[in-house]
Amino acid sequence: MPLQNKKVNAAITAVGMYAPDKILDNKYFESIVETNNEWIISRTGIKERRMMENGATSDMAAFAVQDLMKNSRLKPEEIDVIIVATVTPDMFFPACACLVQDKIGAKNAWGFDLSAACSGFLFALETGSKLIESGAYKKVIVVGSDKMTAITDYTDRNNCILFGDLASAVLLEPTEDLNYGIKDSLLYVDGTGKDNLYMKGGGSLRPASHETVDNKWHYIYQDGKVVFKVAVKGMADVSYDIMKKNNLTSDDVAYLVPHQANMRIIDATAERMGITKEKVMINIDRYGNTTAATIPSCITEYYRNGKLKKGDNLILAAFGAGYTWGAIYLTWSID
Ligand code: COA
Repeated sequence: MPLQNKKVNAAITAVGMYAPDKILDNKYFESIVETNNEWIISRTGIKERRMMENGATSDMAAFAVQDLMKNSRLKPEEIDVIIVATVTPDMFFPACACLVQDKIGAKNAWGFDLSAACSGFLFALETGSKLIESGAYKKVIVVGSDKMTAITDYTDRNNCILFGDLASAVLLEPTEDLNYGIKDSLLYVDGTGKDNLYMKGGGSLRPASHETVDNKWHYIYQDGKVVFKVAVKGMADVSYDIMKKNNLTSDDVAYLVPHQANMRIIDATAERMGITKEKVMINIDRYGNTTAATIPSCITEYYRNGKLKKGDNLILAAFGAGYTWGAIYLTWSID
């Protein structure tokens, strides 16, 4: 397809999400590991999370896109590209994007999965926005979907309380009005963090075997203390840097949309940006850490609750395994 000459921004023009019905509250964790409601709330901010009982990541992603389509004029055959950010694909291959394409009937789309853990939605949003800005594509679906309960060890009290299942999707379309849409990004990876947050087994390095199963290498491993420190610094610094780069003061920012891993990391990021609590999107209390789904689900819920208005400046920020981290600056374009 020819590249167009006219500059466009990519703007989010529709949103959707899917939350499974089953709720795992803190009381449930009191019954399976040595923990308590007060500890979990004070150390993480989480009260409950969701669990997908019948279905996988692609099902949740497809439900989220169907919800988006139900609430917009988008027809499945109009979709050009589907990008699924996930670290819990249904299987290594085919990609979740192919499974979602089939489930929603997007017969003219191509697509792929993107693996950047908790920064997955930001990396996918940046990728999708560049596909739009190139002029080659007009309708790009970006989905964050993770079934974290599939890779959580429910005997490990350090980690099992943190994660939940969720999916959320956005539609990117071009806008010629450059006052709106995605305006800037700062994204990073640093592979030296690989041993502090990872799933050790099942890949080509340590293929599934009795040893990998016996050692629980198919579950998330996290050194929470180490990751906590770098996550606070990474997310706070990059959020501050993108504001500075774009000459934004805290008054110019309507909302910080942070990855929801831990309330204390979110608070530290907001403090560094000089942003008050009311301007921070939060849903960690109801869903826990849902990896690639945290940021789009916050945006979806705040938009649907009437808390987002056209012209609002948002700073999206995330930190995750890899390490991966970054921030995106956008101006909301839906009335
Ligand atoms: N219930 C009760 N006590 C628990 C517990 C639980 N569920 N999990 C851990 N503890 C204990 C620890 O064993 C430790 O006890 P000890 O001092 O006797 O060893 C104590 O609580 C404090 O542990 P600590 O690691 O200092 O807690 P913390 O304040 O760092 O909180 C996390 C733990 C996991 C919540 C926190 O480190 C965290 O959020 N880490 C980063 C998560 C993240 O951002 N990931 C990246 C993006 S995905």
